[in-house]
Amino acid sequence: MINKKIEEALNRQMVAETYSGYIYLAMAADFDAQNMKGFGRWMKSQALEELFHAMKFYDFINDRGGRAVCGAVDAPPAKWKTPLDAFKAAYDHEVKVTGMINDLVDLARSQNDKATENFLQWYVNEQVEEEAQTDEIVKNLEKIKDHPAALFMYDARLGERTAQWGGGD
Ligand code: FEO
Repeated sequence: MINKKIEEALNRQMVAETYSGYIYLAMAADFDAQNMKGFGRWMKSQALEELFHAMKFYDFINDRGGRAVCGAVDAPPAKWKTPLDAFKAAYDHEVKVTGMINDLVDLARSQNDKATENFLQWYVNEQVEEEAQTDEIVKNLEKIKDHPAALFMYDARLGERTAQWGGGD
């Protein structure tokens, strides 16, 4: 059984992960509108993964005798100036999410909730990958700068991505 404080914090994170899905879908929509289908596909895959992250919170809250509550999800921005700006925003977003997960771990520890702390370890590990993959793309886009041919090729390469759930569940 989880206590109220943990239940509310996990529910907030479920909404935050849903927002992550929504902001990546907004980035996908922006790329697709500019016919950058590879970047769009990468972002759609990322959006699906984020919904999976939200679902894991949903299941855990319910499994621990809590009640999953679907709170309001903010509207994300609709437009980014360049692919580099979008991926920089994605990286910054992941750094923010890492902070949220770390705060949740601190809360679980302060409440002596070992099961929640253990559950959150999956997210601690996942965030290492989330930050690394967006950082790598930012660095590649910084190298590409304004070269249309290189950008075209990189768009095709990122389009090879299909959603990986990461958790193996
Ligand atoms: Fe669910 Fe990208 O963190």
